[in-house]
Amino acid sequence: NTVFLNGDYIPADQAQVSVFDRGFLFGDSVYEVIPFYQGVGFRLDEHLQRLQYSLRAIQITADDDWNTILTHLVELNGGGNLSVYLQISRGNTGRRSHVYDAEMTPTVFACCNPIKDIYGSGPDAVSGVRAIVTEDLRWGRCDIKSTGLLPNILVMQQAKQAGAQDALMMRDGLLTEGASCNLMLVENGVIYTPKRGSEILGGTTRELILELAAKDGISMQEADIDYGRLLAADEVWVSSSTRAVVPVIEIDGQPVADGKKGPLWARMFELFTCYQND
Ligand code: PDD
Repeated sequence: NTVFLNGDYIPADQAQVSVFDRGFLFGDSVYEVIPFYQGVGFRLDEHLQRLQYSLRAIQITADDDWNTILTHLVELNGGGNLSVYLQISRGNTGRRSHVYDAEMTPTVFACCNPIKDIYGSGPDAVSGVRAIVTEDLRWGRCDIKSTGLLPNILVMQQAKQAGAQDALMMRDGLLTEGASCNLMLVENGVIYTPKRGSEILGGTTRELILELAAKDGISMQEADIDYGRLLAADEVWVSSSTRAVVPVIEIDGQPVADGKKGPLWARMFELFTCYQND
């Protein structure tokens, strides 16, 4: 298991970061999770653009050749199907201090995790998931992919305790997104998703669904989604890089429509598979 740390490719058990690193002390850091299939980054440019967006938003400058670094790291880990975790923290202040120097050297860390080949296994291998709905307790800049994920892990734990696999969050009566995924629903053949803004992460998979729907002539719109609308939907999906598009079959113990994976989900999964094979 080889990881990347500040310019070096080293065994994971030799990688060390200071206890004064601001990522550790404050969560003063941003990240990306990028799938690689057969050694090739999936939507890599989109992920790297979002990384630059997050970095700019918190005023960290780091413009390494990410493409080359990550592709090499994946090679060193045997290629194949891996998800790459890349984290950039503001660096080490040498002591705990809220304020920082503008000139600090960021701490850059990347590692790989095995993922299953979603597209190789076909739609029957995708199981529908159960979800709970919880209050969205996060801060006002959810568009920044920050490692400060305490609210997200608390609601995922709540989901796990309820026997569910996902937690969908609601702010001021409207659904925002899942703890680590975006949210879509289907009504009468039209896909709806919460609008992009500071309340949600601009998901790369969400963008791909918008693109694929447009190309296939499926109508997709941004909309306000409240609890009643969510529970009355024909289909509910969640999306993320590592899981692609996943049907939600039960919410707060109630089945979504007939409780089975929906036909428009199956079509979208097929569109993803064709896109991936292109
Ligand atoms: N999470 N919303 C949140 C809060 C997320 O954490 C993620 C991704 C997404 C989906 O974004 P994308 O389609 O670009 O993966 C939406 C990653 C996978 C994670 O934290 O592990």
